[in-house]
Amino acid sequence: MPPRKITSTAEERGGIDTGDQSADSGCRLANDPIPLAHSVTLRVLIVDDEASVRKVMAAVLAQHNVTCETAASGEEALRVLETHRMDAVISDLQMPGMSGMELLAQVKQSYPHLVFMMVTGVDDIRVGIQAMRQGADDYLVKPLQVDANIVLASLNRALHVKRLEQEVENYRHHLEEIVAEQTQQLREALRQIERSYDHTLEVLGAAIDLRDSPTAGHSRRVFLYSIEIAKVMGGLEKEMRNIAMGAWLHDIGKLAISDAILLKPGPLTDEEREIMQRHAQIGYDLVKGISFLADAAEIIFAHHERCDGSGYPRGLKTEEIPAGAKIFAVADTFDAMTSDRPYRRALPFETSREVIERGAGKLYDPQVANVFLNIRDETWEAIRSETTSMQGFGFATASDIQALSKPVNPGR
Ligand SMILES: [Fe+2]
Repeated sequence: MPPRKITSTAEERGGIDTGDQSADSGCRLANDPIPLAHSVTLRVLIVDDEASVRKVMAAVLAQHNVTCETAASGEEALRVLETHRMDAVISDLQMPGMSGMELLAQVKQSYPHLVFMMVTGVDDIRVGIQAMRQGADDYLVKPLQVDANIVLASLNRALHVKRLEQEVENYRHHLEEIVAEQTQQLREALRQIERSYDHTLEVLGAAIDLRDSPTAGHSRRVFLYSIEIAKVMGGLEKEMRNIAMGAWLHDIGKLAISDAILLKPGPLTDEEREIMQRHAQIGYDLVKGISFLADAAEIIFAHHERCDGSGYPRGLKTEEIPAGAKIFAVADTFDAMTSDRPYRRALPFETSREVIERGAGKLYDPQVANVFLNIRDETWEAIRSETTSMQGFGFATASDIQALSKPVNPGR
């Protein structure tokens, strides 16, 4: 059978746009060489079950500095691709064994960077179009004499499109790397800001304790007591950091109260008491504008509220008081009673338990009081020992605060 000529490409026949118009120079003569866009030698695998077609195609392309490998079947083509680096595959559609369409599917899967051109008969044009839909870069029609210019022009267009796709892919990949790197830098910056916040809070809490020296270590103890109660209550994992911050900074408003009132050894007058009670509002006003402390500010505002409405500054009742403030109220009472005061020694745990039990449902939230009463003395002793063993004023450290951002075991 005489060699068959490949006459035209999909673009020339149907106006299918391959994305590159520069390689199509319009009127061409069969013998005019079309320079390849590649600066290196193009490597093409020709797959056809007819030896004469393979031979003629390879000979014609070789004249244009194209290195060709040949394969008589789809199966052989896959073996060639395993051992040879190629730029393009030109495959016959109908072959014994693996068809051109089956070869196309395998090549697209295993060698997506390869240009694949399907060679069809005149009666198979629809199949050629279908091949393009399934990933072929172009199709060529036989049977006639091989026209190298048409084949080369089509190869050039397809390779150009492939290069553009590769450049886009490289750019996208590079962009992803840049985004990933910058995201990592941003996370690290946020971590540093968070650490700075926590160190600032640590100093603030210490300043509160230093100012109100008779209650040394109070902030740290109520901070730890509140967390203990919240953990046993459960369901407050997302609130834990706010509860901790609220407990830690609850008396920040006292920084604005004069020493004459704050450190007065005797009982306060009504006017002095009214001034002293302003510390809840002052603390709230100080902290509420800091976005990451906004919820803690609500606890600061309400830390002297009591469930029966007898507290201050707003006289809130049970359901109006934030959970963190209700927890704090029990922790604060417990610490106040079990700590030394200038006018009395610390009271036993048992006494404070009785007071909190009596106040449950009136001053204290009954659920919080119940949880507190079911925590053993050894737990409270351990927390007290930890705080009193610290040098000077015990206060929460940045690492204590950061640890609260991690998941906790509510059953502890
Ligand atoms: Fe207070």
